Amino acid sequence: MADNGSILVTGAAGQLGAVGRTVTGLLLDRGLPVRAMVRREDDRAAALRAAGAEVVVGDLLEPADVYRVVSGCRRVYFGMSVSPGYLEATVTMAAIAREVGVDALVNMSQMTVSQMSIQHTTPSPQQRQHWLSEQALGWSGLPVVTIRPTVFLDGFFLPLVGPTVRDRGRIELPFGRGKTSPVAAADVARVVAAVLADPGPHLGRIYELTGPRSQDMHGVAREFSDALNREVTYADIPPEDWERELQRAGLPEHLTRHLVTMAELHRAGRYDRLADDVERVTGRLAMSVREFVSLHADEFGGRRS
Ligand SMILES: NC(=O)c1ccc[n+]([C@@H]2O[C@H](COP(=O)([O-])OP(=O)(O)OC[C@H]3O[C@@H](n4cnc5c(N)ncnc54)[C@H](OP(=O)(O)O)[C@@H]3O)[C@@H](O)[C@H]2O)c1
Repeated sequence: MADNGSILVTGAAGQLGAVGRTVTGLLLDRGLPVRAMVRREDDRAAALRAAGAEVVVGDLLEPADVYRVVSGCRRVYFGMSVSPGYLEATVTMAAIAREVGVDALVNMSQMTVSQMSIQHTTPSPQQRQHWLSEQALGWSGLPVVTIRPTVFLDGFFLPLVGPTVRDRGRIELPFGRGKTSPVAAADVARVVAAVLADPGPHLGRIYELTGPRSQDMHGVAREFSDALNREVTYADIPPEDWERELQRAGLPEHLTRHLVTMAELHRAGRYDRLADDVERVTGRLAMSVREFVSLHADEFGGRRS
């Protein structure tokens, strides 16, 4: 492929509200050329193409595919779904980005990595892989920018509490009295797009991304109530029941272990975090729970008039 100076966005198909997809749109809005990497040709790929991206199909676990899609790009956003091959995909990307020579690699990680060290890991196989991935990228000598968001409003709250908020006005999670400060994928994507548009000042930095408030789940439920104009309450359910629910829903083991660990860490107060990097990088405050739920009111069962 010719060196057209495109920005490569991996995991660009994404789910609704996913980071790669939103980053692609934000960069195209800025008039920047984007090569959007997807796993397969489908409606999502067609939509990316229609929006103006150069769509390339490939597997992040196949070195030849990764070499083909990175070649000709100077800046890369690297992110993919929570999955067992995450570390392998990261190291593959790092080896190829070194070979090709990129000016910036923006790496999606997790805020829990800020609390991890050799002596303090977590039982989540995903969090361990993010920690190791950050180590490997550090050794690589590549110009890296690290993005560490806390729990996502879109990727976690929407799918996991949407149905119970819709059906019985309840957020059912085993979070105890733990506080949390969930962040919207749109805010994470705004940070990533700002960095990719002008990486120079950001190289070597780590950005921790949270929503604007850290509060317990009763506080979160109040924001849901305000947004939907009806009562939403929080029920602290037993962790074993929640794990059984996830297994019954057929979630892969890797993802289940990760979600169960997130709940454990919430109960232990480890998600009680606040950072202002969304505002520092983008100049705009991060979205609140209330604003997010208002935007997605239909998916939470609608707003009472
Ligand atoms: N959810 C949270 O609460 C949270 C919090 C902090 C950080 N994070 C991090 O955010 C990242 C996930 O971001 P996201 O929600 O934007 O991602 P996502 O939408 O779950 O996944 C992005 C894309 O990755 C693609 N993909 C998966 N395996 C692939 C492979 N082998 N080759 C090529 N593409 C592949 C998927 O393609 P298909 O759609 O075709 O399968 C998907 O479209 C992870 O690193 C996660 O640890 C998540």
